[in-house]
Amino acid sequence: MISLAGDVGGLRLRNPLMLAAGILGTTGASLARAGREGAGAVVTKSVGLTPRDGHPGPTVVRIGVGLINAMGLPNPSYLAFQQEIDLAREGGVPVVASVFGSDPSEFSQVASGLVADAFELNLSCPHAERYGAEIGCQPANVEEVTRAVKRAVGAPVWVKLTPNVSDIVGLGLAAQQGGADAVVAINTLKAMAIDVESGYPILGNRFGGLSGPAIKPVAIRCVYELSAALDIPVIGVGGVGCWQDAAEMILAGASAVQIGTALSGGYQVFRDIAAGLSKYLVRKDMTLEEMRGLARRRS
Ligand code: SIN
Repeated sequence: MISLAGDVGGLRLRNPLMLAAGILGTTGASLARAGREGAGAVVTKSVGLTPRDGHPGPTVVRIGVGLINAMGLPNPSYLAFQQEIDLAREGGVPVVASVFGSDPSEFSQVASGLVADAFELNLSCPHAERYGAEIGCQPANVEEVTRAVKRAVGAPVWVKLTPNVSDIVGLGLAAQQGGADAVVAINTLKAMAIDVESGYPILGNRFGGLSGPAIKPVAIRCVYELSAALDIPVIGVGGVGCWQDAAEMILAGASAVQIGTALSGGYQVFRDIAAGLSKYLVRKDMTLEEMRGLARRRS
């Protein structure tokens, strides 16, 4: 069996597949299960300074090509979350804490108040006032927040970027300049759905973030552009549901791949994708390293 192990963004991974933030990441038990079911690392739900209920419901709507969520960053605050991270560690793989804040000092306070294997900075949620993409669409903010968290914690820092901008590479370069160990691309695309009978927007918050198969081509393009421009690893996320999707991300230049919406089909997705990737590498007589970014070298 060909090895899928490697070093990504300051972590040693047994395979390049991770549970994406927000999906089954609220409890330590579900995070640990993802580790036991084959993920190479797991990312928690985003946590912030104080408890939040999130947006009024409905918070999720399934559409033909994916899901639109407007959860609104519900979380119990970092003060009540360490126990979940500790439990998640029982899954036997690195646990990455996703954190959010409204400015560099909030981000730093939350991250330095947690012990995790790495931190993923949510500078990209498209539907939470004062947080996420509202800050993360400006390169200067991305750099400042990244630098502050890097100073505050001893663990690797990854920055999750928004695709809802005209120049995601500018954001990636800002994260790199601030000292990020990796960027994660992409968060959801700002979206909405309307009920045609009532005429009302379906989501309580009206706007949410689209995930699932529809956004994969956008994610692939972002990974391709970012990995061409940056010296730090790019972790791809967006619409990955099968090994071919993961392969496409790696060919575009991703060092690892996160899986989110596809988890609605069960945890088996990690083992299925790992098996498909291994067979592909054997068939192509390639290593993972040789595969990474091949599409760029062929363009
Ligand atoms: C949420 O919890 O509101 C989703 C987080 C995100 O889109 O980054």
